[in-house]
Amino acid sequence: MHSTGQQCPAQGYLQGFRHFATEAIHAGQEPEQWNSRAVVPPISLSTTFKQDGPGEHAGYEYSRSGNPTRNCLEKAVAVLDGAKYCLAYASGLAATLNVAHLLKAGDEIICTTDVYGGTNRYFRKIASEMGLKAKFVNCSDLKCLEAAITSDTKLVWVETPTNPTLTVIDIKGCADIVHKHKDILLAVDNTFMSAYFQRPLALGADICMYSATKYMNGHSDVVMGLVSVNTDELNERLKFLQNALGAIPSPFDCYLCNRGLKTLHLRMKQHFHNALAAAMFLEKDPRVDKVIFPGLPSHPQYELTKRQCTGVPGMVTFYIKGGLEHATIFLKSLKVFALAESLGGYESLAEHPVIMTHASVPEEDRVLLNISDSLIRLSIGLEDTEDIIEDLDQALRVVHPDLINPTKVKDLLEHLKSNC
Ligand SMILES: Cc1ncc(COP(=O)(O)O)c(C=O)c1O
Repeated sequence: MHSTGQQCPAQGYLQGFRHFATEAIHAGQEPEQWNSRAVVPPISLSTTFKQDGPGEHAGYEYSRSGNPTRNCLEKAVAVLDGAKYCLAYASGLAATLNVAHLLKAGDEIICTTDVYGGTNRYFRKIASEMGLKAKFVNCSDLKCLEAAITSDTKLVWVETPTNPTLTVIDIKGCADIVHKHKDILLAVDNTFMSAYFQRPLALGADICMYSATKYMNGHSDVVMGLVSVNTDELNERLKFLQNALGAIPSPFDCYLCNRGLKTLHLRMKQHFHNALAAAMFLEKDPRVDKVIFPGLPSHPQYELTKRQCTGVPGMVTFYIKGGLEHATIFLKSLKVFALAESLGGYESLAEHPVIMTHASVPEEDRVLLNISDSLIRLSIGLEDTEDIIEDLDQALRVVHPDLINPTKVKDLLEHLKSNC
């Protein structure tokens, strides 16, 4: 079915004339790589590949070490990240685990404080048990990061914007500090921004990681992780680990994620539009204490966001007026939004970080990070903007029937149309 061999450096728009959407649709998808000349990459389910003589093969031996459908996806993502290589994993956490395996016992990981709960749990409870040291530091404060680095530090892990409080971390600032030291890698979890809005490798990171379960696939039907790197050495070590640890995605999931990438640029633009509208609506709302959205001028790192990113995804966090009871009634009253974990799909989701995604983060850390009972995280989807706002409004009416948001939704949408 396929004629070309597996992993080779990606070549794409950084070198050529093509832009993001063209690369998302065509990079790594060349029909000539298949004997059938299939325009849409086939799902290659075979676990093993015929050899002409012992060790003489067409690039594939066994599907864990390399698979044609996975290869198509990896090539496309590498190009979108401006990377030489990308590796795909069975989940975002499996990608994190593989990166951590670059280290050896006694090495130290500095992880920013406000990360996905599962990343926090993995570094704190599992990697630490296996001999790695994990230290949690507020990397949005570059001085804190600089002060925390020791001779044992080998990996700095940041997620930006952070989850769920959407603090934006200065990737270039972190890279400048980290690279004053030899042998420390900077890894950026780029899940929230996606390759469309943020390019960590171009900003100086060594490793760009995704839970592709979110925006990169974008359809809430695949659990997957991705890691992009630019050096042959890192790629070789990660490629070895990908095979040796075996946490690889299925060909079918690779097919779906590859398909999802084809509309990444369109989805991200609409996520941004809908989220900005929702954030502007909530910001004026007397039933809401505070809105956090890096695309609003009120966000403390608005200027950094404009410098570092080309847009903002659909993640909006807000503190509802009241406490747990009010948050619960709000979440149960939503009709368009589903009350569910995860994010980055075409459908709008809402969740309660204290009880759901961040339940594994120790309570004292949650208090420090302002992850309180009144905090609600929204993943704004691709439904009609008016319906998203109307749903938020009607659910807030159930919680606080005496208070009214003065915003005229029509005017807000007109304003967005003429200003964006
Ligand atoms: C920012 C971020 N990183 C990593 C992960 C872990 O990814 P996965 O669920 O695909 O293992 C998640 C999951 O929600 C996430 O939100």
